[in-house]
Amino acid sequence: MNSSCCRTTHPFDSIIPLPMSQSAARCQRSQASQFFNLAGRPGVISFGGGLPTAEGFPVDAIRAAADWVLEKEAERALQYSASAGEPELREALARWEAQKGVPTKAENIIICSGSQQGLDLIGNLFLEPGAKFLIERPTYMGALEAFELRGPNYVTLPSDEFGLNPDMMGEECRGARLAYVMPTFQNPTGLTISAERRRKLAEKAREYDFWIFEDNPYGELYYDEEPPLSMRAFAPERTITLNTMSKVLSPGLRLGYFLAPKHVIDVMERLKFALDLHTSTFTQLLTARCLEKGLMENHLPEVRQIYKMHAEVMLEALEESMPKHSEIRWTKPRGGMFIWLTLPKSIDAVELLERCLEAPEPVAFFPGIAFYATEKESNTVRLSFVTVTPERIRTGIRTIAECLKSMLKA
Ligand SMILES: Cc1ncc(COP(=O)(O)O)c(C=O)c1O
Repeated sequence: MNSSCCRTTHPFDSIIPLPMSQSAARCQRSQASQFFNLAGRPGVISFGGGLPTAEGFPVDAIRAAADWVLEKEAERALQYSASAGEPELREALARWEAQKGVPTKAENIIICSGSQQGLDLIGNLFLEPGAKFLIERPTYMGALEAFELRGPNYVTLPSDEFGLNPDMMGEECRGARLAYVMPTFQNPTGLTISAERRRKLAEKAREYDFWIFEDNPYGELYYDEEPPLSMRAFAPERTITLNTMSKVLSPGLRLGYFLAPKHVIDVMERLKFALDLHTSTFTQLLTARCLEKGLMENHLPEVRQIYKMHAEVMLEALEESMPKHSEIRWTKPRGGMFIWLTLPKSIDAVELLERCLEAPEPVAFFPGIAFYATEKESNTVRLSFVTVTPERIRTGIRTIAECLKSMLKA
């Protein structure tokens, strides 16, 4: 029999319309994912992704902790567990947080599967179509992707060259449920707001009766001086803080945690159960063991030094190479992974990226446009420096500067 005469379309290959929810329909393939693909192309000097440097992964400590967990706690580690998280991990994190100056008990902590899941959980807790939601401008694009699923009504928080400025907050905040803020080494600007601004933000939250959602993945990555205390110190009754082990241990482990008043943790626990029952028991016990063995005390100073050195190299390179122009400026972070570059209004950062990718030694970065919920600006750039060697940072910044000069001349 001639096989081709009987060939039919396999059921998996036939395309019929998908009856999608409104939130799934809102989850389009974003511009951000296109930039990610460009930044990840082989041979490209990439200031694009927000990955921590693999140099900072404590591989030996993780191996030793994994061996210990499998030897001593295998049955428990491989079993289902409680939605709020493993008691020894919550205890260890509570001790760490309390030692930094904000009273914290294990009951104030819930573990989540990376802080990205935490953003989704916050979306579940507070947002629905039209809910008034205060947001920084610019802000973390991954958070925008998570919040966008709920279709909130964004209202921009005012800011200046020092970051969020609560003095400028007014009646527009009334009726908001929540403000999403990154007071420390913000993604994408790298800016940190002062203790005074944190105190004023807490006052505004009380005056206009909204909750503060503080995302803090970079707080431990200070170069010299510790940043001011978490918003929990200023508005403990209405702050929910989200932290992650991604930048201090490893993002592949997918381990984050919330700090909040106990009654909030109780609600989150129910949501967490609905989302994924619990975060990997094995990962939690492994992380608890790493903390017990002094991960934060022994390992973090080394990671901070790596990040500091890379930041210094990029700041020097920008100073040396960038054209002198009154509209060109960049932030000078004191911790974290990002520098935010502002270009003249006439420059489109996406076009600059295209030119940089065509250079003999191609360079990628993230155009700032991906980081705005409202009033998008096209003349900004996020530069991430921690995964690029110092030599390639210098080459990459020179290329960006040369492409920029040619665009300014045109
Ligand atoms: C501000 C911010 N929040 C949350 C995340 C998500 O981190 P993770 O899910 O790895 O904890 C990131 C990742 O880069 C981030 O920059």
